[in-house]
Amino acid sequence: MGSTQVEFNNPATSTLLELVKSRRTYYGLKAESPISDDAIESIVQNSVLHVPSSFNTQTSRVVLLLKEEHQKVWDIAIKAMEGLVAAGQVPKEMYENHTKPKLEAFRAAYGTVLFFVDYDSLAAIKEKFAIYADKFDPFALESNAMSQYLVWVALQSEGFGANLQHYSPLIDADIQKTWSLPASWKLDAQLVFGVPTSDPGEKAFAPIEDRLKVFGKSA
Ligand SMILES: Cc1cc2nc3c(=O)[nH]c(=O)nc-3n(C[C@H](O)[C@H](O)[C@H](O)COP(=O)(O)O)c2cc1C
Repeated sequence: MGSTQVEFNNPATSTLLELVKSRRTYYGLKAESPISDDAIESIVQNSVLHVPSSFNTQTSRVVLLLKEEHQKVWDIAIKAMEGLVAAGQVPKEMYENHTKPKLEAFRAAYGTVLFFVDYDSLAAIKEKFAIYADKFDPFALESNAMSQYLVWVALQSEGFGANLQHYSPLIDADIQKTWSLPASWKLDAQLVFGVPTSDPGEKAFAPIEDRLKVFGKSA
């Protein structure tokens, strides 16, 4: 699998793959940015506009939150978790020792990108292509994940670190209310980003031979 020895027609392909290889999960983040807020917005905007969706349904919805607006997400999550502790649904010790420090670390970052899917917007196409009706929701989520990944890689390329979180449905109602978002926007993921303060953890790879098969290759 000599992927390091190959030559590409376009040097940008090597650059792209280097970025793909270097993207990691960073949990230690601080509230600083190596680029302008406009540049961050451009990354997010391109991910909304140019990431494909099935039948070009364009089902992804995204909210970019910076600085104090970003902190509100994690205040909402902290409040929601403390509600679960008060209701006896989450052990206090676990919350204090594990969950709270994690949430405070997210809050200490620079921004959060909220990724939503508007499933309601698929009603007409589900009727039109009834044979695919049950496929449209998963397709919409897959398209959303592509946007998440693109933003993650591009932010890291610009000197940020990021981590991907899933606090839905715990935070959904407060998120919708705080930013007056349409009820049809269903939250999927929260991408937290900031300037890294620590390295990512070790990462193990299963043998590629067990995960990829190639047939018909020229010598
Ligand atoms: C679909 C998906 C969901 C994930 N959900 C979470 C999550 O809820 N919380 C979290 O801390 N990391 C989450 N991660 C990050 C993974 O744990 C991480 O990407 C994986 O361990 C590989 O590490 P790396 O990102 O450093 O390459 C998620 C990643 C993916 C692709």
